[in-house]
Amino acid sequence: MTSKLLDETAFAGPEHLDPVYVAGYDWKARFDPTNDLVVLREHGLDSASTVIDFGAGTGTFALAVASECKQVVAVDISPAMVERMRTKAAELGMTNVRCVQAGFLSYEHASTAADFIYTRNALHHLPDFWKALALQRMADILRPGGLLYLDDLVFAFEPREAENFISAWLDTGAQSTEDGWTREELEVHLLDEYSTFSWLLEPMIERAGFQIERVDYGESKVYAWYLCTKSPRGPAS
Ligand SMILES: C[S@@+](CC[C@H](N)C(=O)[O-])C[C@H]1O[C@@H](n2cnc3c(N)ncnc32)[C@H](O)[C@@H]1O
Repeated sequence: MTSKLLDETAFAGPEHLDPVYVAGYDWKARFDPTNDLVVLREHGLDSASTVIDFGAGTGTFALAVASECKQVVAVDISPAMVERMRTKAAELGMTNVRCVQAGFLSYEHASTAADFIYTRNALHHLPDFWKALALQRMADILRPGGLLYLDDLVFAFEPREAENFISAWLDTGAQSTEDGWTREELEVHLLDEYSTFSWLLEPMIERAGFQIERVDYGESKVYAWYLCTKSPRGPAS
């Protein structure tokens, strides 16, 4: 199968495989999933829901949503990340979180179709060809009408505007690696990872069979979040 050809670990970002980096990740990221949960609730999240989080990292979102749904599958390609989320789930006594070491392209979903798929700051690890395959796989495991919450570093500007938007973004770099992403780390993102333009990503989302319901690029035009429903009609041809 084509999707199995890519070694996703090789694209995961070396830092995400490093247990020392992973141990400091929550402090560095300071991610609060409260608003994300509000959006999922508005779209029907309840105690019967199944949620899959792709690129779940240390499990911040997965563990937060677990108390409001039936089950969560937290998928990440990094063994160190999966180890960390398993430890956190055990410490919290969460029994409805399944932590799976797998990737967008290698995860096999054996149970009933998911109601929600959530992915934050992870899809950009795949080059565009593989992003399209990943989106198709996500559509395949979501029930018709189910929701894809996709939040990522996506460039919502024209190539001629890149100089301005990218330099403004690099200027937001943190002072130290412990407290956030420094200018140097943002540069690594730009050079070694695969954030793409919104006007390339959006047709991929739609072609996989999703309808984009809401999109927000923010002021920086460097981050985008999408709320998409799986179209009952199936993928565009
Ligand atoms: C920047 S972190 C984001 C973690 C978490 N979603 C968050 O928002 O805090 C990116 C995560 O994506 C994971 N990742 C990278 N490539 C992946 C892939 N192909 N499949 C699944 N996870 C992947 C990394 O291991 C890492 O945990």
